[in-house]
Amino acid sequence: MKAVVVEQYAPIDQIELKDVPMPPVAAGQLRIKVHAAGIGFVDGLKVQGLYQTKDPLPFTPGTEFAGVVDEAPDNAAGYVPGMRVMGMARSGALAEYITVNAEAVHPLPDAVAAEVGASFRANYLTAHYALSARAMLAAGEQLLVLGAAGGVGIAAVQIGRLLGARVIAAASTPEKRDFARAHGADAVIDYTQPNWRDALKELTGGHGADVIFDPVGGEISVQAFRSIAWRGRHLVVGFAAGSIPALPFNLPLLKGGALLGVDLAQIPTREPDVQKRLMAELTSWLAEGKLKPVVGRVFAFADFRDAFKAMQTRDALGKMVVRISS
Ligand SMILES: NC(=O)c1ccc[n+]([C@@H]2O[C@H](COP(=O)([O-])OP(=O)(O)OC[C@H]3O[C@@H](n4cnc5c(N)ncnc54)[C@H](OP(=O)(O)O)[C@@H]3O)[C@@H](O)[C@H]2O)c1
Repeated sequence: MKAVVVEQYAPIDQIELKDVPMPPVAAGQLRIKVHAAGIGFVDGLKVQGLYQTKDPLPFTPGTEFAGVVDEAPDNAAGYVPGMRVMGMARSGALAEYITVNAEAVHPLPDAVAAEVGASFRANYLTAHYALSARAMLAAGEQLLVLGAAGGVGIAAVQIGRLLGARVIAAASTPEKRDFARAHGADAVIDYTQPNWRDALKELTGGHGADVIFDPVGGEISVQAFRSIAWRGRHLVVGFAAGSIPALPFNLPLLKGGALLGVDLAQIPTREPDVQKRLMAELTSWLAEGKLKPVVGRVFAFADFRDAFKAMQTRDALGKMVVRISS
């Protein structure tokens, strides 16, 4: 089968599609024929060996996928060949086949395309966990989403709306702000402007943001915290801008504010019941059509490098997806 193989940590241009053996499948596992794989910012860091944790070499990148069950040796967890599923793994999704434990997948509703299924779990679980389980976002509160047109940002815009918040989307270009508005933002801000905090103050009637969803980092994070409402919650999600900000400790004191960390990778082990509840809620919203995950761009398997480059050049809108097979 064909798979993207990282033999040395390197820029994406040096990574290639290779012929590799089919992954074996053991009892309790499923082999999935991958139809689509979702790529996130983290995948680009992992390929270069720049992420906090390093995948042992060689590895196949890609954590999110949707496809059909190819083999289920003992009908693990009720799955049988031919069933449509979506799932997450530590790596391995940019391949024609992936083997995972049965707990790693969920059924993919018939009405939901594979590209949508592959765009769903990481970003929407992160956003839902952050906003519901950490920030306890309440209906009527004002939510500021930084990097709102990116993969996890647009998920936070949509989940924020579903939870009844007023969503203010911050993004760097008119196209990105239109994109955020089209997916439910009530108001938008150009946070590349020096006076963007004045615009935020005006938009919130002087109140500030009750909750800040922050996958961007850098100086913007500290500026945003300065505009937080009393008892506001600032969610630390990521550092797409490249630098980890340092927050002066007097600011949480003066604002009565809280900084809350969010790490998708630790939810399954540290809070399995919360993950189960949030995933059940998300999949029922998905099946009912209440939540329509945003697929930004779909790339052919041979063009997988372009999916990574779109994020690395700050050019991505929504989630980048690679179509592997049909
Ligand atoms: N904590 C978790 O569990 C978790 C889960 C998912 C993702 N994340 C993290 O969240 C961040 C975003 O991931 P993503 O997949 O949503 O990425 P993405 O689609 O590329 O979005 C990132 C956004 O960040 C903004 N940005 C600002 N400076 C940037 C720069 N120098 N380069 C690229 N983007 C820049 C961009 O918006 P503007 O152009 O509008 O500024 C962009 O839309 C990453 O750091 C990722 O590791 C964390």
